[in-house]
Amino acid sequence: MEGLVDNYMRDTLTGIGGYDACVTEFVRVVDKVMPKKVFYRLCPELLTSATTESATPVIIQLLGSDPIVLAENAAYAAELGAPGIDLNFGCPSKIVNRKSGGAALLKEPDRIHQIISAVRAAVPYSIPVSAKIRLGFDHTDAALDIAHAVEDAGASYVVVHARTKVDGYKAPARWEWLGHINRALTIPVVANGDINNIEDYRRCLEISGCKNIMIGRGAVSRPDLARQIRNEQQGQPCEAMSWPDVSQLLMNMAQKMSTTVADKIIFGRIKQWLAMLKREYPEAQNCFDEVRNLSCFSEAKLILESSKEKYYA
Ligand SMILES: Cc1cc2nc3c(=O)[nH]c(=O)nc-3n(C[C@H](O)[C@H](O)[C@H](O)COP(=O)(O)O)c2cc1C
Repeated sequence: MEGLVDNYMRDTLTGIGGYDACVTEFVRVVDKVMPKKVFYRLCPELLTSATTESATPVIIQLLGSDPIVLAENAAYAAELGAPGIDLNFGCPSKIVNRKSGGAALLKEPDRIHQIISAVRAAVPYSIPVSAKIRLGFDHTDAALDIAHAVEDAGASYVVVHARTKVDGYKAPARWEWLGHINRALTIPVVANGDINNIEDYRRCLEISGCKNIMIGRGAVSRPDLARQIRNEQQGQPCEAMSWPDVSQLLMNMAQKMSTTVADKIIFGRIKQWLAMLKREYPEAQNCFDEVRNLSCFSEAKLILESSKEKYYA
């Protein structure tokens, strides 16, 4: 997730467990093959077998609209070691959409087909090529056409964010549409949108009939969500992570970042994460209120540390 799940967050979350794979923030492709440094910046894991520290594969996501340039970039990403290529047809950003990228392409299933065909042909067959789509741009009428375009072009699987572009990130996601698409395709359909807890996971599977899911914001606001889901799949109890453990995760991530990243940026990231954790942990709200007017992470760290003791008090 752009601006939210970078390599530090990927290491932190996959380290908790439950993930089969994760995806980079998108690599924006316009009219040329992006330099190696761009791929390494967005996916430093390429230097370590394209896996996170916990050996979870990291798939590279590309965003663009030109089939040939996307294919060249996909081939290059594969050469650098990407274990999978995902194509973004869901980004709602106005800047991206104005250049016919991301969700704007949902209006053109034929172009989606051309892009996926070109990328599939350019990448060794052992490397999966997938697409991340929404249900449409401003309506769902073409959802099945879009999904068929993805399948017919040779994608290995499709991740469906169960909203239109115009829906943005509004709840509820339209899980019933995942079912329509899942029944119409033969490739795996990965369900995405509004899976924020175990109950959502169960209901989404029941409504959609999908076997695989991708978690989004829920992965950040409930850091052990993937592990809880994995436990559920294995018939194990799904005990939720306590606040002291979550608080420690934040501090560990900040510590890791501190060797290469400026304190101001680390502080911004920790505030951003606290803001998302507020959805699930009242302690995060308290910490957020206390740290928001500070100026650096070193001060905020004391607040995170003492929030653990308050939890036990
Ligand atoms: C801040 C933010 C950044 C995102 N960046 C990306 C991205 O780079 N690529 C992508 O495929 N989806 C991206 N998404 C969409 C999520 O992957 C996911 O499809 C969406 O949030 C729906 O799932 P959710 O309701 O569980 O969050 C982003 C979402 C958010 C909130």
